[in-house]
Amino acid sequence: MCGIVCYVGRKPAKPILLEGLKRLEYRGYDSAGLAVQDGETIHCERAVGKIVELERRVNGLEMKGTVGIAHTRWATHGRPSEENAHPQRDRDENVFVIHNGIIENYHVLKKKLEKDGIVFRSETDTEVLAHLIALHFDGDLSDAVRKTMAQVEGTFGIGVIHRQTPGQIVVARRGSPLIIGVSDDGHFVASDVSAMVRYTNKVVHLEENELATVTADGFSISTAQAKPVQRSTETVEWRAEDAELNGFPHFMLKEIYEQPAALENAIRGRLEQGEGVPKLGGIMPVWESLKQSRHMVLVACGTSYYAASVGKYIFERLTEIDTEVGLASEFRYRKLNFPPNTFVVAISQSGETADTLAAIKEAKRKGARLIGVVNVVGSSISRETEAGIYNHAGPEIGVASTKNFTSQLTILTLLALLLGRHQNLSLTEGIQAIRALEALPGLIHKALAQANHIEAVSEKYCRCTNWLFLGRKYNYPIALEGALKLKEVSYIHAEGYAAGEMKHGPIALINPEMPTVAIIPLDEMHEKMLSNIHEIKSRKGPVIAIATEGDEKVRDVADDIIEIPPTLDFLYPILTVIPCQLLAYYCAKFLNRDIDKPRNLAKSVTVE
Ligand code: M6R
Repeated sequence: MCGIVCYVGRKPAKPILLEGLKRLEYRGYDSAGLAVQDGETIHCERAVGKIVELERRVNGLEMKGTVGIAHTRWATHGRPSEENAHPQRDRDENVFVIHNGIIENYHVLKKKLEKDGIVFRSETDTEVLAHLIALHFDGDLSDAVRKTMAQVEGTFGIGVIHRQTPGQIVVARRGSPLIIGVSDDGHFVASDVSAMVRYTNKVVHLEENELATVTADGFSISTAQAKPVQRSTETVEWRAEDAELNGFPHFMLKEIYEQPAALENAIRGRLEQGEGVPKLGGIMPVWESLKQSRHMVLVACGTSYYAASVGKYIFERLTEIDTEVGLASEFRYRKLNFPPNTFVVAISQSGETADTLAAIKEAKRKGARLIGVVNVVGSSISRETEAGIYNHAGPEIGVASTKNFTSQLTILTLLALLLGRHQNLSLTEGIQAIRALEALPGLIHKALAQANHIEAVSEKYCRCTNWLFLGRKYNYPIALEGALKLKEVSYIHAEGYAAGEMKHGPIALINPEMPTVAIIPLDEMHEKMLSNIHEIKSRKGPVIAIATEGDEKVRDVADDIIEIPPTLDFLYPILTVIPCQLLAYYCAKFLNRDIDKPRNLAKSVTVE
């Protein structure tokens, strides 16, 4: 959830670290800090609040040095304060540590250290690491880090510098991603490639329980048992400008508008009309077993879970596979009993969500096969799964997930279509689906053309403090996603419901102050949704309908209509979610919210 960036090279470290922190700010933003080393001098500065506060603090300061570590924090242990911000240091201020993750046995370790006379200055678990590394240090920093790794339980991605080992940074990971970036001017280490794409696209991923010593001229990786590891560099496809606003006021809006392109990327080279069968090279390693499989479980968290929930309906529609959907955060508490040849599909934008990672590890232990649907290439989930499909949606920086959701729906449709075509789905249906998928980027453009109208609708209702979102079948998860989006960025309380549940309780809430967003495309659920709208109207509840263009029946009854173009029933969610995203965005804008960095949230939830 926090962000790490380190640099060791030939250029001044301070501006590089600040720039990297800004690009990582979406991962955590309650405090930040950096430490720059120049020979045996280490200059450390920390500040509460956003990176701009840290920038203000260090701007006038001379911080010489071409080596440094920096961190942006999302508090887990200890409130956001300067003392709790990273880098954390040992008593003698020799060791400076930045840390993502949670040290689970820090209480025990802290008590022991306190008994030995060490006085803690922060409430963080990270400070334990600084003291332990200092105690183990006898001239070899990587050895001290290795010994510390053996003592701690939990998760970490750490960057460490020591006053007596100038010119080197030691980094280590267990459960928290770290990537080394290689450039002519030196080396970077970051929790996320976006911190370094401006300088390099050549990266090396650190694997679990590995550490690396990084200098201006090279790096050496070894295991926790000190076994050397050779690993070659990979090239990342993201460009620096992909992670910039490019004239948009917010990343959320930019990413909403990037959806036609993200969809094109998801389908590029994967559609073959002739036989109505998509091509998905990434799942070929498991294809022989996968095509025999009759049981599938889609696991994910948050918005990715809602994509999985739509996916379940799509799999039921197109395949003969018995498909379940599971919240990754609850998965481990269940008594999992997988029929033979069950495939668990982990769906994650970041590929680093701790609960999703834990869910697939548990599924593997119970004998399931694993597939990933992941956006970030080389992320932990893509490595833990046997095969997978990348979204290629480009970096998603806004904390609220948008383009990745529609991309996930597209990928799940491709997978279902591929499997369906090897089962009972006809050639005609296959070709029809492929044509409809190809048309989707254009249809999203049409849906986006409603933005001004959606802005006006948002202005009309944004002061209402409670909203309801209703949908059925494919669009029931869109009601959940619409409510989540609104909550996340505007802080308006919203509930998503299967419209059939209305009479079982939520109808009691309806009054003139509570708008309902009714998702009512022209599909088999249309008449039933229409009845729900009538029920709400007869109780004087305002209704905003997301409906197919030209739907006169809805026009007669809803207060406001947002139109989307027609498509196939199971593809409607890719269109109906667009107005939901825009409603959330514009409500947040009218309420002056911090849209890209909503309070208490971080982009990637890497702790449980
Ligand atoms: O990176 P992931 O797709 O695994 O993330 C899952 C959720 O944390 C994420 O979708 C979260 O709910 C977003 N804030 C939703 O906008």
